[in-house]
Amino acid sequence: MRVVILGSGRGSNAEALCLARQAGRLGRAEIVAIFSDRADAGILALGPRFGIEARYLDPAPFKTKLEGAGEQRYIDAVGACAPDLVVLAGFMRVVKPGFLAAFAGKVINLHPSLLPSFPGLDGIGQAFRHGVKFTGCTVHHVSPEVDAGRIIDQAAVRIEDNDTQETLAARIHAAEHRLLVEVVARLSLAVRVAD
Ligand code: GAR
Repeated sequence: MRVVILGSGRGSNAEALCLARQAGRLGRAEIVAIFSDRADAGILALGPRFGIEARYLDPAPFKTKLEGAGEQRYIDAVGACAPDLVVLAGFMRVVKPGFLAAFAGKVINLHPSLLPSFPGLDGIGQAFRHGVKFTGCTVHHVSPEVDAGRIIDQAAVRIEDNDTQETLAARIHAAEHRLLVEVVARLSLAVRVAD
């Protein structure tokens, strides 16, 4: 199964996928490319480290969504990789119907809360400030409505009385790394890949 990762940040989830693949724990999944909408994103350093194509793709003209010329650049570059799965791992930009139609049913996203609670930006801070006792992370299919696509799997994290937002974030990130690896490995075993 050919996997393309899109991300905007430090790339700890993409790193977890690369390490799992290296350790033989990613089923039949192979990471073929990493693209970022930020030229300075840490996620791009994974390319040389793991021998994977990794590059900045200009998302212009919009600031918070992927549409128009930027969307077409992503459709072309991702499409050239012939992916079976596109993983949004901290891709902080709203993906629109044009991209989703180009990779119908193949785009999944990781979100740091138990959806449908706390969608959108800062899912960890929203849950912490609300005072819920459990939060966690979700992997879901991407649909045009933000953070609302069909849920594939979730992991719960308890918020302890002595947690700060930072200690909570650390446990959620650890849970995300495990969950995303498990989901991608599982999906890879369900996909028929030409031998
Ligand atoms: C992750 O916590 C992911 O859930 C979140 O961005 C972080 C990326 O971290 N995504 C969203 O909030 C999407 N709405 P990483 O760059 O270290 O993988």
